[in-house]
Amino acid sequence: MKTNEVCRKLKITSKSLRVYEEYGIVVPKREANNYRDYDENDLFMLRTVILLKELGFSLKDIKNLIDNNNYGNNQFTRSLYLQLKAVERKMYELDVVKNTLKTSIDNILESNTKQNYDTLVEKIDISLKENKTNRRRWLDMWGFDNKAIRFDKMVRDRSNDELGLFDKYDEILDEVRKRIIEHKSVKVVDIGCGTGNLCGELSEKMDVIGVDQSLEMLLQARKKYNKMKFKLGNFLDKPFIKNDVDIVVSTYAFHSLNNKEKKEAIKNMLEYLNDDGKIIIADFMFLNNTEREKCKNDLYRKDKLDLWNVIDNKYYTDLEEFQKYISSINCKIHMEHTVNFTWIVEIQK
Ligand SMILES: C[S@@+](CC[C@H](N)C(=O)[O-])C[C@H]1O[C@@H](n2cnc3c(N)ncnc32)[C@H](O)[C@@H]1O
Repeated sequence: MKTNEVCRKLKITSKSLRVYEEYGIVVPKREANNYRDYDENDLFMLRTVILLKELGFSLKDIKNLIDNNNYGNNQFTRSLYLQLKAVERKMYELDVVKNTLKTSIDNILESNTKQNYDTLVEKIDISLKENKTNRRRWLDMWGFDNKAIRFDKMVRDRSNDELGLFDKYDEILDEVRKRIIEHKSVKVVDIGCGTGNLCGELSEKMDVIGVDQSLEMLLQARKKYNKMKFKLGNFLDKPFIKNDVDIVVSTYAFHSLNNKEKKEAIKNMLEYLNDDGKIIIADFMFLNNTEREKCKNDLYRKDKLDLWNVIDNKYYTDLEEFQKYISSINCKIHMEHTVNFTWIVEIQK
């Protein structure tokens, strides 16, 4: 399709098309006479770009997203997926700002003394700034789609795993599966299920729903386990079933959430559970901040700043703080260290 037809169809200017081309976002093929010729995939991508821009994403971020999702096949599904992700992220960001504004107004209404408006404005600025910073991390999360095909190999052949993050991976999954079976579970939700390594084989005997934010991970899991059900979703999504699940489980995924998000995720996970239900989380954690600092100092001393950055780029749970939170919502918590950074934590109402 020629430039002027594209402009007419999508209601954009040729100048915008040139800018997207300069950024390497949508680069059409050229005809023999050097005219641009946009194909169907270019049009899908342009629609995606228009929506992402509408949502306030910068061209740099858009380029980053598109590069991380360039698989060459299924372009239509991918462009829908990308748009869905961006809309979800925006809704989450708006929710953060909405809650900050609402709390500020409530504070003014509740207080008899004159409020310090600077502090309130500062809180709003902070939430806007945090959204921006967290968006960077959210963009990084897209790495999971790229990792999906080699994930199973990566966790088992760990020549690059200097921190030993996936030491005893299979043993830990075995242990978590054992606990699910001992609980006499019938219905299980596995959040951040990845390629289905934890619950895939359980789906032969029980009702298992795997939830993951990465479409590519789910597609890999579906190839391996045809009895398991899958849902594209997030820890932060409202539960799709309530009070009806025996176990909500998650392995090696919780550390992608910051503290605030973890609290929201726990609330959601509890809503899935029936009265006797249980949450099981196996993930990277530190007992407390002292242990975290000790690890940081050790790695600095060994001149392994790059390894510390691997840890610092994610949100390893501070267990003592987490424990306080779980007690504050009147739940019971049991925790057990397995190997290196990995702990298994159980939470019950
Ligand atoms: C390291 S993999 C672990 C996969 C699997 N649980 C396992 O043990 O093999 C982490 C998975 O969590 C998913 N994930 C990360 N953040 C998530 C979120 N906020 N909501 C849902 N899934 C998430 C990723 O897409 C990825 O598939």
